[in-house]
Amino acid sequence: MKIADRLANVELSLIRQINALATPLSVNLGIGEPNIAPDARLREMARTATTTSWHYSPNAGHLALRKKLAEGTPYDPASEVCVTAGTQEGLFSIFTAFVDPGDEVLVPDPGFLSYATLAKICGASAVPYPLEPPHWQIDVDALRKRITKKTKLIVVNSPSNPLGSVAPAHTLASIAELGPLVVSDEVYREIWYDAPPASMTGFGENVIVVGGLSKSHSMTGLRLGWIFARETVMKPIVTAHQYVATCASVFSQALAALIFEDRNWNAAWLTGVREQFSEQREAALYAIQHELEVELVPPSGAFYAFAPVPACDTISFARELATEAAVLVIPGLAFGTQGQGFIRISYAAPVEQVVAGIERIGRHLRSSGK
Ligand SMILES: Cc1ncc(COP(=O)(O)O)c(C=O)c1O
Repeated sequence: MKIADRLANVELSLIRQINALATPLSVNLGIGEPNIAPDARLREMARTATTTSWHYSPNAGHLALRKKLAEGTPYDPASEVCVTAGTQEGLFSIFTAFVDPGDEVLVPDPGFLSYATLAKICGASAVPYPLEPPHWQIDVDALRKRITKKTKLIVVNSPSNPLGSVAPAHTLASIAELGPLVVSDEVYREIWYDAPPASMTGFGENVIVVGGLSKSHSMTGLRLGWIFARETVMKPIVTAHQYVATCASVFSQALAALIFEDRNWNAAWLTGVREQFSEQREAALYAIQHELEVELVPPSGAFYAFAPVPACDTISFARELATEAAVLVIPGLAFGTQGQGFIRISYAAPVEQVVAGIERIGRHLRSSGK
């Protein structure tokens, strides 16, 4: 049996491969989802959500939810908002709608590995644009230089997985003016530390914004995301989405609508999420400084620290940490060639585990003489 060419060389991500090495004794700092459990109110809303209709919704999602999502934005809920089965499905639908074989897609390096893989699935080439330590900011000129006649999409991710960096508003505005379609992945938008990150919501006709509840509401398994785009751009995306998902789970849609309706609860929830991640970030930065002897620029958003490790092959190093030191982290190379020499430490774990995991890395480095 020959698999389709579009999936040739597409493997289980390194993230999944490293996570597969977990044992009951491992400290897992490889994880990409919040360590936050639903509170009583969120569970109550979920119970209420089960009582609503279980039938298909319109492909783009129930209008009531689209209206909630569009509040405060210039998007028309009827034609410029699409509810998706998570951000990932939104990205898949966007790539399916616009990316042809032979096209080029500009992707951040280091960056979330799905972007390059989606380009490959569409027969296109991912063209990495580099982000440089220690601030990991987008150099718009470097990005501009990589634009060719074949460039179909530019992908921007702020706050960034795996870097925790946030792009300032003026950078995002300059990127919107470069010309090609821009996909702004804002799934970490609500997870920030000192100031809310800028968004590309409402930017030019060529800008597509994706977001979701996976990270902000610790709802990774409920698969609820959304896309904002101007009507002409949105039309083919909704067509693609129809053939991928039909519609997002109506249970998750109903729950999302309840969450946005209860503004006070939602504001308090998000404040609580940010407070918890702030504590975990402080613990991670302190442990990294003391155990790994590195002072990182504090991440401005998301829940990842991208830490340099002494020169070594970081893929074997991450495997070694998993099997010999019982701590899971993701090798930087999983996020692009610029990630060589770094590991992604997720601090979406209780403070004691964050500290214990980083201590294990430090001990392993010292005992192996690295
Ligand atoms: C940058 C980024 N975009 C998208 C996703 C996918 O999120 P969702 O659960 O909404 O599909 C992730 C998940 O880790 C991510 O890190």
